[in-house]
Amino acid sequence: MRSLFRNISTLAGIVPAGVLRKQGAEMGQVGTLHDAWLLEEDGLTASFGTSSDTLPDADNVIDCEGGMLMPAFCDSHTHIVYAGCRDGEFIDKINGLSYAEIAARGGGILNSADLLHNTSEDELYRQAAERVDEMISKGTGAIEIKSGYGLNPEGEMKMLRVIDRIRQFSPAVVRSTFLGAHAVGRGYTHEGYVDEVCRMMPEASALADFVDVFCEEGFFTPADAARIMEAGKACGLLPKIHANQLHVSGGVQVGVEHGALSVDHLEETGPAEIEVLRGSGTMPTMLPGSSFFLRAPYGKAREFIEAGLGVALASDYNPGSSPSGDMRFVMALGCIRMRLTPEQAFNAVTLNGAYAMGISDSAGSITVGKRADFILTRPGWTLTKIPYLYQTPFIRSVFLLGQEYGTNN
Ligand code: NIG
Ligand code: FE
Repeated sequence: MRSLFRNISTLAGIVPAGVLRKQGAEMGQVGTLHDAWLLEEDGLTASFGTSSDTLPDADNVIDCEGGMLMPAFCDSHTHIVYAGCRDGEFIDKINGLSYAEIAARGGGILNSADLLHNTSEDELYRQAAERVDEMISKGTGAIEIKSGYGLNPEGEMKMLRVIDRIRQFSPAVVRSTFLGAHAVGRGYTHEGYVDEVCRMMPEASALADFVDVFCEEGFFTPADAARIMEAGKACGLLPKIHANQLHVSGGVQVGVEHGALSVDHLEETGPAEIEVLRGSGTMPTMLPGSSFFLRAPYGKAREFIEAGLGVALASDYNPGSSPSGDMRFVMALGCIRMRLTPEQAFNAVTLNGAYAMGISDSAGSITVGKRADFILTRPGWTLTKIPYLYQTPFIRSVFLLGQEYGTNN
């Protein structure tokens, strides 16, 4: 089956095969072709060119009517499997309590764990699938999803099974992360819970791709993180880490030392963190939706890029610190609050997001042989307008593996 996308004003996000991430000055460059066509075959990009070429034959022709065609967003950090919501804490935050204060009172992540324990697996799946649907219709084609609201073997496995079910039924790419070490589960001592997380690893690794740890004061120390990441690696899981969200914690250093694919959050970093990331395979991943919602500092993305590093941006979609999976808003925050150029923000939410979930050899750019996961914009849109006119509907349709998914944008 071959579909021809014709009348594309700009084909944006063209990357040569083999380029798996962008760093430093490359972050400001987006490969484009104007007045273009693209041929999709069996779910993958088969070829593309400009309208001066002879157009290839196809079974199906999609007239893009002067819209822009770009890769779907790759959201490399989410917690979208959760039960209910935490709107009570929203009011607490308005009244002045901080994220850490709510957590210290037994709310926060533990609140979500209580809700999850009282929710059936089918209902949990139903709620999460609705969020996935919403994210796809807003342009996301690949999603990393973490466990971490189970906080005991039964709850964590329940979450990993729900993520696996999403992986099987969703047209989006889904990667699964075991985040048993998100908070110490009720009824455990700190040490006892770290032991429990390590004991869960073999069973979790049958369903997950990655292991993650919330390395933060009041949660898990760099030493805990090192132990848990090594236990994950022994079971074939690739490490990721929540680092430097609320404090300079040593989380970035321990993540890089243990070969983390990404270090995420990074609201609180200095020159030492930049230095340790240089030359590593680890993708710094910033979550501006969480900074926005918690009124926290934004990661210093520009400094990272000026130091030659790459940066990915992700939504962190979760009920406590970022209740939105809108990657276009993430891109806008990247530009407005972090002063990234639209091109830098674009690379951060596409190719570099794909790298941060280990799929940039098959997704995240317009490349022959990669998945045909696209956003087709309405006519007249440019890359700059997407974050600039940050609330105006811009998507005409989302395509995953070449199949039209639609939008509610
Ligand atoms: O990435 N910081 C830790 N984990 C999530 C928040 C989870 C929650 O509050 O439910 C985050 O921001
Ligand atoms: Fe997170």
